[in-house]
Amino acid sequence: MRRRDTHPEHSYSIVSAQPRLHQNAPEIQAYGTVTHLLPLDLEEPVRLEVTERLNQLLADTMTLRDLYKKSHWQTAGPTFYQLHLLFDKHYNEQVQLVDLIAERIQVLGGLSIAMAHDVAEITRVERPPRGREEVPVQLSRLIDAHQIIIRELRDFARLTNDRGDAGTNDLLVSDVLRTNELQVWFLSEHLVNVPLVLAKEAAEKVGAAL
Ligand SMILES: [Fe+2]
Repeated sequence: MRRRDTHPEHSYSIVSAQPRLHQNAPEIQAYGTVTHLLPLDLEEPVRLEVTERLNQLLADTMTLRDLYKKSHWQTAGPTFYQLHLLFDKHYNEQVQLVDLIAERIQVLGGLSIAMAHDVAEITRVERPPRGREEVPVQLSRLIDAHQIIIRELRDFARLTNDRGDAGTNDLLVSDVLRTNELQVWFLSEHLVNVPLVLAKEAAEKVGAAL
């Protein structure tokens, strides 16, 4: 005879210390949709449009974040220590942005892209090689990625303003844009060709005296 407490319909109502492992069920919300009737005073079409663009920004930001960690690990040469630390600082700041962007999508009733496979499919940041590159190439790649994001941000900020989505607009400008602009400055200064020890004029005099 079948025991009543082992029947699947009853098993979930029985108090037990046994974990219910390997559960599976259909998704409760499809990617690319927003939930209805959120009391945000933002129409559904606006939330759909904004969350789609936020997911693009999220994928690009996650890629830039990972590009910083790659650079942090693989950088080499006389500036190793300062760049190793700087790249990790920027990485951590991008980690904060990723969470802010992703959670803004969820606030608007959408679904944030999350997994590396999905991010790789939609990011517009060029895929770097697995191997190690020279410092100026690392810096150029990072600045190019920032430029893609900054260009998108200016356009996107205008759109959110037009649609009345002040919350997203504030996030884009105050958090994402300002952080990216500052990081571009810190990177770019490493590509200025200035002497490290002897000023140019002094070096020429030394050269002439030899
Ligand atoms: Fe580290």
